[in-house]
Amino acid sequence: MPDTILLTGGAGFIGSHICVELAKAGHRPVVLDNLCNSKPSVMERVGRIIGRPVDFVQGDIRDGDVLRRTLRDFKVRSVIHLAGLKAVGESVSMPLAYYDNNVVGTLRLLEAMEACDVRSIVFSSSATVYGVPKQLPLDESHPLSTTNPYGQTKLVIEGILRDLRQASDRWHICLLRYFNPVGAHESGTIGEDPHGMPNNLMPFVLKVAAGRATELSVWGGDYPTPDGTGVRDYIHVVDLAIGHVRAMERLDTIGCEAINLGTGRGTSVLELVKAFERVNGVRVPFVMKDRRTGDVASCFADPSLAHTRLGWKTERSIDDMCRDAWRWQQFAVAQGL
Ligand code: UD1
Repeated sequence: MPDTILLTGGAGFIGSHICVELAKAGHRPVVLDNLCNSKPSVMERVGRIIGRPVDFVQGDIRDGDVLRRTLRDFKVRSVIHLAGLKAVGESVSMPLAYYDNNVVGTLRLLEAMEACDVRSIVFSSSATVYGVPKQLPLDESHPLSTTNPYGQTKLVIEGILRDLRQASDRWHICLLRYFNPVGAHESGTIGEDPHGMPNNLMPFVLKVAAGRATELSVWGGDYPTPDGTGVRDYIHVVDLAIGHVRAMERLDTIGCEAINLGTGRGTSVLELVKAFERVNGVRVPFVMKDRRTGDVASCFADPSLAHTRLGWKTERSIDDMCRDAWRWQQFAVAQGL
């Protein structure tokens, strides 16, 4: 009997790739998503990759009835919880929406899980909980802090989950702290598809390369990094998705644990742009601009705990990330997505 895994936010960039990897590993994904930042057609495209339709419930995690019904009807064994708002700038201007969606939504989900006797959860956290790095690479013992409401919601939820385990050892909880997910499935038929103008680097590079924006603004060329531009730990979304499958499979051995998912390697903005141009044979015109408020110079993971606890490490390179992201962008343009 395959395990049925509920994916909240499963129609999103990361969730759609987790669906594929869960199915590949012999599990049965069920997606609950309110489609506030994704398109319904993504589920059809995931279905085509895995060779069968994916169970999909359109609903909101703040709706306890729909949660309980889904958990019971599908006999869910574990939850991978990704649903949430994630734009830093927007969280500063709309904090209430962020606390409501992310924190209240998570509370409703955990209540529904208790009611249905489902106590295994993998939570989508973020390296944003480390705030400004005091030392690099960042390991899980680095002090936690944050600079914006989005990061605050991640910190609050991590705290709620730790308290839950403290209260009952029937809960099994893995907090996955992602670094910078980019890339796309190698088929090129699913990928990151943000509504509106993207803020993150790779989606913007894709827009420029596709001629949908004239040039990339490089936010800051005077950081104390080898070429002066910001350094991040970019991780291929398929590696990230496989990390979730491993975490879910090992939940029984985990009480409540935070684990980084990153490559351990830093790449600068200009290195990423150059790799993208070289691998794909396209031009990405850019202009140097002032630093973006709130950005840090460098941020990269110590991913060794993921290796020891989950038997997981990344396998895909920056070149793979650039190639797969571009394949997806071309598909999206051709399909009018
Ligand atoms: C950002 C968020 C982080 C969140 C993550 C989600 C901020 C300050 N941080 O991370 O909390 O978890 O997204 O994916 O928003 N860059 C450019 N030009 C651009 C866009 C980005 O030069 O048009 C640079 C940035 O200055 C940075 C790097 O590219 O050095 C990566 O930026 P981005 O993709 O936005 O990710 P983070 O800032 O690391």
